[in-house]
Amino acid sequence: MKVLSLGCGGFIGSHLTRRLLDKGHSVTGIDIYNDKIEECIGHDKFSFIRHDIRKPGLGLKEMVADADVVIDLIAYANPGLYIKMPLEVFRLNFVENLKIADACLSLGKRLIQFSTCEVYGKTVVSFLKEELKDPEDPRYATFSEDSSDFILGHLGKHRWIYSCAKQLLERVIHAYGIEKNFNYTIIRPFNFIGPKIDYLLDETDGIPRVFSFFMDALINGTPMKLVDGGHHRRCYTYIDDAIECIYRIVMNPDNVCDRQIFNIGTPENEVSIRQLAEMMREIYNDTFSDKRRPLSEIIEVPASDFYGEGYEDSDRRIPDISKARRLLGWEPKWKLREMLETTMRYYITEYLKHYREQHADAHFHDIVHKALEIT
Ligand SMILES: NC(=O)c1ccc[n+]([C@@H]2O[C@H](COP(=O)([O-])OP(=O)(O)OC[C@H]3O[C@@H](n4cnc5c(N)ncnc54)[C@H](O)[C@@H]3O)[C@@H](O)[C@H]2O)c1
Repeated sequence: MKVLSLGCGGFIGSHLTRRLLDKGHSVTGIDIYNDKIEECIGHDKFSFIRHDIRKPGLGLKEMVADADVVIDLIAYANPGLYIKMPLEVFRLNFVENLKIADACLSLGKRLIQFSTCEVYGKTVVSFLKEELKDPEDPRYATFSEDSSDFILGHLGKHRWIYSCAKQLLERVIHAYGIEKNFNYTIIRPFNFIGPKIDYLLDETDGIPRVFSFFMDALINGTPMKLVDGGHHRRCYTYIDDAIECIYRIVMNPDNVCDRQIFNIGTPENEVSIRQLAEMMREIYNDTFSDKRRPLSEIIEVPASDFYGEGYEDSDRRIPDISKARRLLGWEPKWKLREMLETTMRYYITEYLKHYREQHADAHFHDIVHKALEIT
């Protein structure tokens, strides 16, 4: 199969490229960055084009015409950026992504569009807590692709522009399906974790996502900051489980994924952000720390200090994955603790060792050394 993958150099894209090549498919990949897919460059079935899709000269239509399936992963997917530059988030995540959908529509190609679980927004519990008999009932926070409503904050909470842009893109693609028989599959990821999730120590693309932020804090002995107490809950999924599901969607057995939306997540791995911080701290202390430096403290910070004004968060979200189970026979396998340990080890060994030169203090050498011994 010939796959065109836009955003192939990101967290999900890099793992997916590897899987597609390993399975013998041809991949044309487009991204601004190639650090995460360096190992694939040079593969005879991979052609990488470094290009910013906002700039002219890509030849998108020709590339779409040449592909059997198009996968669009491109987005700003970082809450810090939704606060800092909401217009640019809208422009990239909706306006530019729509051009990709339009090219697929005009050439009759199937599109796999990455959306987000953030389209579901908040739960009813976030504003009706007092009136509900059992606000802890997980049914209030369990979201299904084809029946759950979307609840977002007011305009002053402009972080929802990410969710809105993704939702609008989904709605247009869905309408193309109704009016123009467009063939698509929409994917809503629920918080994936794994190697290559974000760069540590680098805020070029905003504050890194929570795992990388905590990892960075642990390595540097700086505070692990819990935004608004860290009460919000998430269900984490290991990247290998996610890629297995995405790969099945790409293969589309008996066309079961045509005009379908899929949640990809692990309902059993629910944890509050505070519990996530505590678990990572414990793993770091038990497995990686040299014990010479005090462990990072966990502290609380208001969202307005951490992100700026306009922030609000989904209080809780649990994926209903019965559709992926039924249509694709997919079942996530990784438990939270093991995915954290594996990913933390990756960061300390494979990733941070490249930074040995720049961060050559004794503490850093010790943790890398310890992790390498354990691997
Ligand atoms: N990782 C998750 O848990 C998660 C959760 C919800 C939604 N998603 C969605 O899945 C998709 C992939 O997520 P990810 O975690 O791999 O994100 P990522 O940021 O790691 O990957 C996105 C890639 O798009 C590239 N890109 C951005 N702007 C570009 C441009 N103008 N031209 C060319 N390339 C550009 C980036 O360089 C990056 O490599 C995104 O659409 C995201 O919204 C991911």
